[in-house]
Amino acid sequence: MVLQPWLRTHLYKVLVVLVVVLLLLQYAFNSIFEARQLEPLFAINSSSSAGHRPIRSRERGLLFSAANGSISPSDVFRNATDMSDDTTTTVTGVGGSTSASSTAGQMTNNTTPLCPPIPPKLVGAIRVLKDAPPLAELEKKFPALEPGGHYHPQDCRARHKVAIIVPYRDRESHLAILLLNLHPLLQRQQLDYQIFIVEQAGNGPFNRAMLMNVGFAEAIKLYDFECFIFHDVDLLPEDDRNLYTCPEQPRHMSVAIDVFKYKLPYADIFGGVSAMTRAQFEKVNGFSNMFWGWGGEDDDMSNRIKFHGFHISRYPANIARYKMLTHRKQKANPKRYEFLNTGRKRFKSDGINSLRYERKDLKLFHTYTLLLVELAVPS
Ligand code: BGC
Repeated sequence: MVLQPWLRTHLYKVLVVLVVVLLLLQYAFNSIFEARQLEPLFAINSSSSAGHRPIRSRERGLLFSAANGSISPSDVFRNATDMSDDTTTTVTGVGGSTSASSTAGQMTNNTTPLCPPIPPKLVGAIRVLKDAPPLAELEKKFPALEPGGHYHPQDCRARHKVAIIVPYRDRESHLAILLLNLHPLLQRQQLDYQIFIVEQAGNGPFNRAMLMNVGFAEAIKLYDFECFIFHDVDLLPEDDRNLYTCPEQPRHMSVAIDVFKYKLPYADIFGGVSAMTRAQFEKVNGFSNMFWGWGGEDDDMSNRIKFHGFHISRYPANIARYKMLTHRKQKANPKRYEFLNTGRKRFKSDGINSLRYERKDLKLFHTYTLLLVELAVPS
């Protein structure tokens, strides 16, 4: 090809102009495309298992930094559905012993702006407090709470409606310490949350998994929670960038615990603190009800998660850190391996669809909702 003498002299300049024009065009297209993506990226429909649609690449790339560095967790930030109604629930305790009334929900409407995707008041690493005042005094520290330990931000609409489910028996001092540490963190994270303490009545073997199933079943009767954080009473978060939000994939949150030298004991562990959306939990049929005594129930959940095509997600270990309070070691369940090995056969029939219990009491304390339950041994 013979180029005109003029073009030959100015070829370099023509190419530069072409490249600049192409770059400008690409920039213009990107701006239009991104403006569209500002609409809700992720919707969780808590009343059905329609669940979620995948997070888009722009969301994945979101970085945020706080005092101690920065992270970019892929499943952290998303928009949730608008739930602006004020739900009023009246609950009467079994036997007429308790009558509690809860005004749960965000007193917001569509004109209230959505909370920012990156909670602005996070501080990063936090000092864990191990000296809590008695529960009655603790209440005064959290004036913004509604009955039952329910909170929602005042000046913006929370992006996540989260039930914190704590299986419990006979650990009052641990409970006060957990509440002292958890409430400020969750409030800085601008969540619409409620803390449920699910207490097992009697003194038979403890069934952590079944209590978590009960927490789930009772919480959804009270409010349209979108996700659930299953939380041991003795674990205290050390960093408020460990977001207690709805996960894209089931999230194991207690990645690094001091007593395990801040190392993950094994890859599939799902115990301690973990988060699931309502849709995920329903899909796997909740936890098994068969694990009486210590151990195995979280491993069975881990198997359920994988079996149903999910995977366990985690935040980085320098953020998902916890301190464990000391306590007497519980008696391990000698049958746990047997139930684990045969678990798959029961995923469909053993779980929230076969859960049997009696709710003996429900009390809305200022800093938490107490559910006292008697568990029925599954047949
Ligand atoms: C048990 C789990 C427990 C883990 C860490 C495993 O052997 O089966 O239930 O979470 O150890 O303590």
